[in-house]
Amino acid sequence: MSSSFEEALEAVSESVQEELVRANTEQEVSQIRITYLGRKGKLTLLLRRLRELPPEEKSRAGELANALKAELERKIEGALVRFYEETKQKSLAQEGIDITLPGTPLPRGRLHPITQVTAQVVDIFTRMGFQVAEGPQVEFDYYNFEALNIPRDHPARDMHDTFYFSEEVLLRTHTSPVQIRVLENQRPPIQIIAPGVVYRRDSDISHTPMFHQVEGFMVDEGISFAHLKGVLTLFIQQMFGEGTCLRFRPSFFPFTEPSAEVDIGCVICGGEGCRVCGGTGWLEILGAGMVDPEVFRTVGYDPEEVTGFAFGMGIERIAMLKFGINDIRLFFTNDLRFLRQF
Ligand code: PHE
Repeated sequence: MSSSFEEALEAVSESVQEELVRANTEQEVSQIRITYLGRKGKLTLLLRRLRELPPEEKSRAGELANALKAELERKIEGALVRFYEETKQKSLAQEGIDITLPGTPLPRGRLHPITQVTAQVVDIFTRMGFQVAEGPQVEFDYYNFEALNIPRDHPARDMHDTFYFSEEVLLRTHTSPVQIRVLENQRPPIQIIAPGVVYRRDSDISHTPMFHQVEGFMVDEGISFAHLKGVLTLFIQQMFGEGTCLRFRPSFFPFTEPSAEVDIGCVICGGEGCRVCGGTGWLEILGAGMVDPEVFRTVGYDPEEVTGFAFGMGIERIAMLKFGINDIRLFFTNDLRFLRQF
């Protein structure tokens, strides 16, 4: 009995090996597994017969049978892996895909230089306690001019080259109308920074019909020109470096009195005089002044009680000086070679 059992094991072992040698595909190998090791497989049935053996033969026969089972499983598995690898290599060669090639890079976007400079300006002023306010780009004549002490026949209107929709509606020519809107809606103490887009009918190397300004103003009891100087000095030095000096030149705006234009020491030549500063050593960068009593009266404030300062600057001008750009139109022509530098 025992020897016939061993012979049967032997026979199974031999025929499995033969069939494996003949097998040509993964499927054929899987079929061999089913034929011998499946639920009704030849070896499985043999293992079931172990129970019928006399006790003294059982353990040796069991050992042999289980060893054979393990060996066959290993060989079948090995054959399957070989076929799997072969098929993979074949299909890789056919498809001709070089998986070592680098992927297609996703181009990374970045913020427009004007957005970057605006954010920096806003950041400097908010750290000084200013809050951000915004106003509409399509504005009433009243806010853009009238309430800012620029009546209809005022010569200052000529400086603005306004786009009009109608007698009363226009594209704002500066961010100063935000002063009026805020003064109408808030009570002092007021400390506001107002960035935004403005429009003027003007186009050349230093003008575009659309550009950006930042307005700043502070209104409360006892605000003086000294506060204006202090705030602007701090701003300029954080924007252009500790050593940057500035000067105030008397000027005129209908909505400030007194008014000043503020220059900084030329960032290109350091004050020596060069082409950028026209040999003067100074660069004009903003307009400023004390809020005109007439403006206060228009929005219902008593100019004997409150005072304030205001200033306005062009963002493109700041960006051009900071980055050494000589043509304002570069900001708006969407040339990626230009934009990628920031
Ligand atoms: N609004 C002025 C301009 O566009 C700048 C300015 C703002 C001047 C506030 C004084 C006070 O030129």
